[in-house]
This record gives sequence, C-alpha cells and structure tokens, in this order.
Amino acid sequence: MNGVSNLMLAGKTDVGEIAFIDLKAQQRRIRQRIEARLQAVLDHGRYIAGPEIEELEALLAEKTGAAAAVACASGTAALIIPLLAEGVDTGDAVFLPAFSYNATANAVLLTGATPVFVDIDPETFNMDAADLARRIDEVKREGRLRPAAVIPVDLFGSPADYPAISAVARRHDLFVLADGAQGYGGKLNGKWVGNLAPATATSFFPGKALGAYGDAGAILAQDLSVIERWMSIRWHGTDAARKNSVCVGFNGRMDSFQAAVLLEKIAIFDEELAARRMIAEIYERRLTGAVRPQRHLPGAQSGYGYFTIRTPGRDHVAASLKAQGVPTAIYYSTPLHKMPAFERYAPAGGVKVTESVCADVLSLPMHPYLTPDQAHYICDCVEAAVRANEP
Ligand SMILES: Cc1ncc(COP(=O)(O)O)c(C=O)c1O
Repeated sequence: MNGVSNLMLAGKTDVGEIAFIDLKAQQRRIRQRIEARLQAVLDHGRYIAGPEIEELEALLAEKTGAAAAVACASGTAALIIPLLAEGVDTGDAVFLPAFSYNATANAVLLTGATPVFVDIDPETFNMDAADLARRIDEVKREGRLRPAAVIPVDLFGSPADYPAISAVARRHDLFVLADGAQGYGGKLNGKWVGNLAPATATSFFPGKALGAYGDAGAILAQDLSVIERWMSIRWHGTDAARKNSVCVGFNGRMDSFQAAVLLEKIAIFDEELAARRMIAEIYERRLTGAVRPQRHLPGAQSGYGYFTIRTPGRDHVAASLKAQGVPTAIYYSTPLHKMPAFERYAPAGGVKVTESVCADVLSLPMHPYLTPDQAHYICDCVEAAVRANEP
C-alpha cells in the first residue's frame, strides 16, 4: 500500500489528484448524453414544465418505491411545500435535529412555525427518538406551542431511525417530513429513502450524490392524496388550470434543463452508488478503531453522500491531511441552535451530544471516481495523522 511519506505536491499525491467530490470525472463519462438531453430542451423550448419533468417524476417514484414524486426548485422548496400543505403555521412546534444544514431550520421558520431542536445519537449522528419524546413532553408541559411535525434528517446519506421516530410521532399525532436532502440512495429495512415517511424532501444540489447542474429538489410521497396540493403550492398556489389561486404558494418548480441533466445522472446512479459503497467499505474496514466513522442503523445502508468520522484533534488531523494532498470538509462545526439566526430557539440546557459531535467531526473525500488505491492512501494518511496527534 502507498505510504504517506512518499508524497507529491499539495493537492496531488502519488495516487493522483484527490478531489473531495469529483463532478468532472462524472461529466467526462456522460457529457455527450447530457448535451443531447439539453439540446432536446432547446429544441422543444418548454423550459418550464417540459416533458423531462414528468419523465423524471415517474422515474424518481419508480426508483424509490414512492407513490409519486413532485420535482421542485430546490431541496428547500421541497421541505417548505409539504409543511405548508399540512397547514403548519404560527404557534406550531416543529422538531428537528440540532445537527443539520441550516435549510432544515429555515424551512420551519419560513412557515411561521417555531423550531424545537432535538439531540442526536453520537454514533449515527441522526435524531435521537428518545430525546424527541422528551422535547415533545416539554413543549406540551409548557403549553405555549402545539407540537405539529417532526423532520428527521438522513445525515450524510444515512437513513434516520424512522421506525422509532414514527412511533413517537404517532403517539403525539405529528406529521413526519423526512429531510432526505442528503439521503438519496439510502435504504432502511429494504425500503429506499423516499418511501420511509409520508413525505420526503430531497435535494439535487450539484454536490449531492444525485446532483443537477444548478438548484433542484423533489418531494416523494407515500400517498397520492397529497400530490395535487403539493403541485398547486409549487405553482403559486394555482388550480390545475393554472388560473385561480386556491392556496398560498410560490414558484417552487424545477426547470426542464435540470430535469434533463438528472435523467442522465439517474441512469448511472446505481453504478455510482456501488462505487461509493466500495470506497466506504475500505474506509470502514481500515479506519474503525483509529477513528469513529458514522455508524448506520441495523438494516440500513447509507447512500454515502458524505463519509464522516469523529476524531479528537480534528483540526490537526484535517491540517495534516491537507498537507498530504487529501481535501476534507467539516459538516458541521456549529450546531444550529448556536447560530445567530436560530440561537433564540436554543433549549435552556443546550443540545449536548450535538455540541460534542460538532467539535470532532471530519468528512473525508467521497465520490464514485475515487480508486481503491486512493482510498487506501487516504486511510494511511488518516492513521498517520491520528497517531501523530496522540498524547
Ligand atoms: C440536510 C439538508 N437539508 C436541506 C438542504 C437544502 O437543499 P437545497 O440546497 O437544494 O435547497 C440541504 C442542502 O444542502 C441539506 O443538506
């Protein structure tokens, strides 16, 4: 295996240049097919609501086992639309993990509801159902807000604990909206992300495991009854004839160019997912013990949008990896309840596990075009950095 001492210049290594996410390699593979798809949009000229949208929606439903899909302008739009459709409003409490991207909290606040931050499991990094139950009881005891919805997040691609969270939600009559923005390609107990909750929002931001060439997202439904309303909200709240406003909505649509790109990316997604899993398997086998890789629930498979570890002295490890040509990223160094926009919603006692996880997480390069040699090189570098950092 390649040793860490045998290095080339920064950004490059003796196993080639290592990218954190490599969109260029993917594009080289499918560029011609994407160009043909984009050309088709230019030819038919239906830049909004072109045939690519319905084709993509049908394919997303088929791939995930959802009853239907609604293509959206972004993952954020895909979060807001089901909340609005459910009637989530001022005076409602919506529960979400404190360890997520800010969009999860923004979506709640944009409906007028109040975010209630829930702690996570220290190994899976996803919402802790027991803490959810405690925070719901607290909100009920306080009596100021009505518990209305819960948003589990499939962080880094690993499905949240839907069975446990759904059981709590059923007891308290909460709507479950999965934030699967990072979750596409994940599976739990034989079901794909998209078919694990009544509504799942996903994001096709370019860097996601399934990414467009711009902003895009989708909502996946387990039940057809919600689709008409979601489609209406996505199109300024109009009726099917697009004439009358029947509810409050906004421009939440995906454009035809993004759908065209996604159709070609979905065609290679299964192969890419297998490649991500192969890299993750090397990381997990080599690194478990030296560091703490994200664990997945029994019966779960991650979509491996990201590969994240916990390690003390994270900043030293990151600096050492950078010096060896290995790019890393920190998702997330600040919990949501400590960010200026959300700190007024911080629970009195803090959100302790989230705070400790934010202090030592580090995401390693993860994409389908990493070679096994590169993955082993990265493991060599991580092991060496951790050893050098030991007291
Ligand atoms: C967990 C999570 N939720 C929501 C979003 C929002 O998605 P978008 O950027 O497509 O609006 C993201 C995007 O990064 C995310 O990671």
